[in-house]
Amino acid sequence: MANQIPNITLHDGLTIPKVGFGTYRLNGNDGVQAIDNGYRLIDTAYNYENEGTIGEAVRRSSTPREQLLITSKLPGRYHHYDKAVTTIQESLYRANLDYYDLYLIHWPNPIQDVYVEAWQALIDAKRWGYIRSIGVCNFLPNHLERLKKETGVLPTINQIELHPFFNQEEQRKWHQDHQIVTESWSPLARTNDVLDHPVLQEIAKNHNRTVSQIILRWHYQLDAIAIPKSATPSRQLENISIFDFELSNEEMSIINQLSKADGRMKDQDPAVYEEF
Ligand SMILES: NC(=O)c1ccc[n+]([C@@H]2O[C@H](COP(=O)([O-])OP(=O)(O)OC[C@H]3O[C@@H](n4cnc5c(N)ncnc54)[C@H](OP(=O)(O)O)[C@@H]3O)[C@@H](O)[C@H]2O)c1
Repeated sequence: MANQIPNITLHDGLTIPKVGFGTYRLNGNDGVQAIDNGYRLIDTAYNYENEGTIGEAVRRSSTPREQLLITSKLPGRYHHYDKAVTTIQESLYRANLDYYDLYLIHWPNPIQDVYVEAWQALIDAKRWGYIRSIGVCNFLPNHLERLKKETGVLPTINQIELHPFFNQEEQRKWHQDHQIVTESWSPLARTNDVLDHPVLQEIAKNHNRTVSQIILRWHYQLDAIAIPKSATPSRQLENISIFDFELSNEEMSIINQLSKADGRMKDQDPAVYEEF
C-alpha cells in the first residue's frame, strides 16, 4: 500500500507508526475518514472533547481495533492521584474503549506541581490494563528527571511543540539519550507562515512535492513522530505520502536553520505556561 507508514518501537516494547493523526478541533463527523485513509495512530485528549468521536470512528472503521493506536491525555486540573485515576476511567467510557494504547500527561503545570502524582496514576493505570504505554507532553528535561527520580519510570514519548520555526534540537537530543521518542505537535505550525515560505517552497519545487510534505518528511528524518491534523481527506492522504523520497543532509540543515530561539507559536514555554 502506497501510504504504509513505517513503525517505531518504544522503550516498553509497544510498536507505533512514525506518523499519526492530530484531532484538535475535529469534532463530530469531521476527519473520521482518516483511518480509512491509512492513519493508525490517532491523537486525542480529554480536553478536546472528542474522545467520543474517536471511539465512534474506531468502531465504524473496517480496521480492527488491535491495529489502531489511540492516544488520549490527562488535563492539568486532574493531576491529583484519585482524580487522575477517575479521569482515565472517564476517558475510556467517553470513547467506549476497553483500553488506550497511549495516555499522556497534557502539560506538566510546574507551578501547580502535582505532575508526579499524575504520573504515579498513569503507572498504576498501565498495571491495571487501562493503558498500554504511558507518556507526557511538554515536559522539560528537569520535569522528566524528577519523574525518574521519584518513580523510577521515564515516559515512552514526550509530545512537544516542534515545527520548522522551533526545531527543539536540545530537547530532542535529551530524549534520544534517554530512549524517549519525540512526538511533534503542530508539526505544520498550523500552517501559519510556513506554506509560502520561500526556502521551503524551493525545496518543495525541487522534489515536486508540497511544502506540507517537505515539512512532514523533515520530521520523519529527525525521528520525530508528526501528528498533522486535517479535516480535508485529500490533505490527510497528502500528509502521509512522504515515504518515497528523501531530503538530503543539506536540505535538512537548511530547514533546521529556519528555527528561532523564540519560535514557539504562542509563547507556551512549559517552564511557566500552565493549562488546565
Ligand atoms: N500536546 C499538546 O499540548 C498539543 C498542542 C497542540 C496540538 N496537539 C496535537 O497536535 C495535533 C496537530 O497540531 P495542530 O492541529 O495544532 O496543527 P497542525 O497539524 O500543524 O496544522 C493543522 C492545520 O493545517 C492544515 N493542514 C493540514 N494539512 C495540510 C496540507 N497538506 N496543506 C495545507 N494545509 C494543511 C489544517 O487544515 P484543514 O484541517 O482545514 O485541512 C489545519 O488548519 C493537534 O491536532 C493535536 O492532536 C497537541
